[in-house]
Amino acid sequence: MKVMVLNASPRKAGNTAKLLKAAADGARDAGAEVEYIDLYDLTFTGCRGCMLCKRKGVERCHCYWKDDLSPIIDKIFHADVLLIGTAIYLGRPTSRYFELIERLHFCSLSYDDYSNYFKGKVNVGLFVSMNATKEFYERLYKAKFEEYAKELEMLGGKVILYPCYDTLQVSDYSKFNMASFEESKKKLVHEKDFPKDLENAYRIGQELCEFQFV
Ligand SMILES: Cc1cc2nc3c(=O)[nH]c(=O)nc-3n(C[C@H](O)[C@H](O)[C@H](O)COP(=O)(O)O)c2cc1C
Repeated sequence: MKVMVLNASPRKAGNTAKLLKAAADGARDAGAEVEYIDLYDLTFTGCRGCMLCKRKGVERCHCYWKDDLSPIIDKIFHADVLLIGTAIYLGRPTSRYFELIERLHFCSLSYDDYSNYFKGKVNVGLFVSMNATKEFYERLYKAKFEEYAKELEMLGGKVILYPCYDTLQVSDYSKFNMASFEESKKKLVHEKDFPKDLENAYRIGQELCEFQFV
């Protein structure tokens, strides 16, 4: 059982990374072999439109552009579970997330009939962390992020979307011009809810591996 964990958030010890590390622990405890990658450490871009993945006779579901992402795309297609996380930036996933999805999706898309070349099954956990409260998320982000989660159904497996709300963005708000956030409230949520988020992430990591056996 092979699990790929991809952090599409730039902060290596941030909220998203913590959720992903908890999910990775769950996967490990379910017996999986886990590879954890910070996407911001790699050098890559979105799809360059080289069209090599659409050439006649070439291997499908392989990105032919040579940079740090191409081997990761191969590993995703050969994994049993993908655990991916992104912070919400301006109401969307980060740019790194989109660059990855563009490449992953395009090389498995048939331009003959728009079917999916990928016939395997990779279960996916998509973790999103944000400043927004649950209420704000449900009103303004939920529908969009469910679409992003749906996009990952191209990997043929079960997809679980886990939103983590009202995260702590800095450890000392008094040092920043961030008056729209009340530090005491943020810290309270962090102490009360974040440990539960980590437990839930752990369970999702474990469950997605267990579903693979079914
Ligand atoms: C450039 C930028 C844009 C952001 N935009 C949003 C946003 O639109 N909505 C939101 O809820 N949080 C937003 N945030 C806050 C982050 O999503 C939140 O702090 C998240 O938990 C950070 O994750 P990390 O600790 O993994 O970096 C933004 C943060 C940054 C740096």
